Amino acid sequence: MHVPAARGPLSSALVEALRGVPGPVPAVRAAAEAAVAASLDVLADEDVQLALLCMYELHYRGLDGVDEDWEWAPDLLAARAVLEEAFEAAVRALVPVPDTPARSADEIAEALFELTSADDGPGLSGYVAKRATDEQVREFVVHRSIYHLKEADPHSWALPRLSGRAKSALIEVQADEYGGGRPGHIHSELFAATMRALGLDDADGAYLDLVPAPTLANVNLMSLFGLHRRLRGAIAGHLAAFEMTSSIPCRKYGNGFRRLGYGQDVTFYFDEHVEADAVHEQIAGRDLAGALAEAEPQVRDDVLWGAAAYLAVDGLAGVQMLQAWEAGRSALRAPMAAVAV
Ligand SMILES: [Fe+2]
Ligand SMILES: [Fe+2]
Repeated sequence: MHVPAARGPLSSALVEALRGVPGPVPAVRAAAEAAVAASLDVLADEDVQLALLCMYELHYRGLDGVDEDWEWAPDLLAARAVLEEAFEAAVRALVPVPDTPARSADEIAEALFELTSADDGPGLSGYVAKRATDEQVREFVVHRSIYHLKEADPHSWALPRLSGRAKSALIEVQADEYGGGRPGHIHSELFAATMRALGLDDADGAYLDLVPAPTLANVNLMSLFGLHRRLRGAIAGHLAAFEMTSSIPCRKYGNGFRRLGYGQDVTFYFDEHVEADAVHEQIAGRDLAGALAEAEPQVRDDVLWGAAAYLAVDGLAGVQMLQAWEAGRSALRAPMAAVAV
């Protein structure tokens, strides 16, 4: 991923550190503490969310020109812990554990289906289907590219943390996400193809500088859940809620692009998810999230909370886009023309 431009003192200290040789960087840790202390809303904080995204990226495919040894640099891990603590606290304050007596795998799945169907979301897919302009659907793809170019990877962190029925279920879903072993069919590759068909740059992070905090927080939430074993319940619940709210919206997104005259080269990614995620939601709800909550009752609350947290944080990202568009503004931090493709 390309190294983004800083958005404040913390990301500035981080980017400067990453350009150097791995070693002690107490200034980054101090900047993280100062940023969290000064932040009015960590979920909407451009500096905090960008810094966290870059720190997490060191565990994925890394940042261009950045020494790989930074991944386990103690000061960066300490700084990340400061941001993560504030981030998790903010999400826990925003979203309570859903109140349900569900305990068995089937009951948990049912509770998750109820939770996700009761949540209307901000109406992003309906807007894209019926009203979005050509420029707005491109902005939508740019927002979504931050996750979809690494689609499924955050949930894969959970694989070695699970066992039995839950592990088999996650393998089944992820195998589809990674194209079932067929080169070129990894969902992130399908999304990249959609971007190219729209004339957009499919390089990882090509538009990162344009994407605001709420969308970064949406991606950071998955990395937080995926990278902490103690949050394995939350990442399972997150995936279940994600899959349960994907099939119908993907049909609407595809319809939006067709309404604007685009063909299958653009819509294939969304069309593929209409049927795939109708299957995935069953596996992720019952056999992953449900079975995990049943097998490990101590993470049952986090399974439900992870699902609710996904709905809330994804909702904030959707609201940010819709509010900008309704007001006749761009939902990006700068016009897309500002990026040379
Ligand atoms: Fe997918
Ligand atoms: Fe899926």
